[in-house]
Amino acid sequence: MRKRINHRGAVGKSVLKTPKVAPKRATETTTVGDEAFSRNDEGLMCERVPLSVIARETGTPAYVYSAGAIRDQYAHLRDAMKSVDARLHYSVKANSSMAILSLLRELGAGLDIVSGGELYRALKAGYTGRDIVFSGVGKTEREMEDALRAQVLLVNVESEQELHVLDAVAKRLGVKAPVALRVNPEVLVDTPHPYTRTGEKGMKFGIPFDEALSVAKASATLPNIDLIGLDMHVGSQISQFAPYEVGLQRLLHLRREIERETKARLEWLDIGGGLAVTYDAERSVDVRHFGEVVKALVSGSGLKIILEPGRYLVGNAGVLLTRVLYRKRSGGKEFIITDAGMTDLLRPSHYNAFHRIDAVKPTGRTTVADVVGPICETGDFLALDRQIDDAQPGDLLAVQSTGAYGFVMSSNYNSRPRAPEVLVDADRFAVITRRESYDDLVRNEIETPEWRSR
Ligand code: LLP
Repeated sequence: MRKRINHRGAVGKSVLKTPKVAPKRATETTTVGDEAFSRNDEGLMCERVPLSVIARETGTPAYVYSAGAIRDQYAHLRDAMKSVDARLHYSVKANSSMAILSLLRELGAGLDIVSGGELYRALKAGYTGRDIVFSGVGKTEREMEDALRAQVLLVNVESEQELHVLDAVAKRLGVKAPVALRVNPEVLVDTPHPYTRTGEKGMKFGIPFDEALSVAKASATLPNIDLIGLDMHVGSQISQFAPYEVGLQRLLHLRREIERETKARLEWLDIGGGLAVTYDAERSVDVRHFGEVVKALVSGSGLKIILEPGRYLVGNAGVLLTRVLYRKRSGGKEFIITDAGMTDLLRPSHYNAFHRIDAVKPTGRTTVADVVGPICETGDFLALDRQIDDAQPGDLLAVQSTGAYGFVMSSNYNSRPRAPEVLVDADRFAVITRRESYDDLVRNEIETPEWRSR
């Protein structure tokens, strides 16, 4: 059964716990751009719940999210886009927990999905097909079929071959597929790591810009395709608006060409996700300005705009709570060994990503250390050469800004059960994903092979 969410997006009372410690006033904000995490004499707090209380109740490692921070980010972006005919379709891949999806549904969000699994989650969380756009460079026929049966708003098609397969699937089902062509806007983007760029020339994503018109013409010949939109996604963790501006101009130009040369009438323009959050001391993106940039370009076009924010809505709303297991020195270097590692948070080792790490209750001393996990990989670290609290075994650390692409990218490598996820709302908290058990690790495995002959 779905967990009910009240009008403020709070998870139903039955699954919530009130911390035993009385909430105290926050005195100091610890993360730039994120007031949800603050510090008082009980240490680091998420809203009005001490992180130490959550660690005591759920153990570590554990992801902790602030419902209030998600609501605030949604409201900022909603507000910034209010003078544009725009819809916010949360990008499920950033954090796909059912309670987070429900919270965002209550706020009025639609979704951007990239797989049959995300479609399953979306429908289970109470979204309807009209709330969903389906993106992705390698959709299978089964996924297309499921999406068409669910009557999604748009299928964002990324190649001419995909268009033909979708046409055949739609024919089988006796429906017309609502299509937006995902075009590679071929803009230069500055992201912290090359792996999070998508809208540059020569990447696997989208239809190459100079082929888009001919793919649009091809779609006009396919009886089960209804071309009604264009789509782009320039990349992720983007704090400048130039790539959006250039990309949007290109797509608007392309729209005019397509409408001139085919019978298609394009009503949707999906401009993707990518808005940055703060990981260190950066300035937060000025979404109001972003709204003005978009408005200046699209006003009068009659287009309905779709945004696919993932990280912006949830990134700064989460921390990964971890406990220090050991300290050691090796080769003149200090190591802080924590119970969370790359299996819990892959971003530092995969993208060399920076996440601030704060002591929940600081010792008052600092050191310079590598913060490393228990995994048998040299690349298993949360931070390198970091000036950090001189945390000792048993102390709690909070790895900041891990609400997006944290839990969702975790794995069972080294047979490590995945961490739980906890949602905080004001002075209450609830486990929204249970910690995996050892049984969960082997649940789908068949120890004695059931051989079949060919
Ligand atoms: N739309 C499309 C088509 C996308 O590919 C993505 C992200 C988004 C929307 C949402 O982007 P956001 O607003 O979250 O930046 N694992 C990486 C990020 C990969 C992003 C993939 N696509 C990381 O941890 O930084």
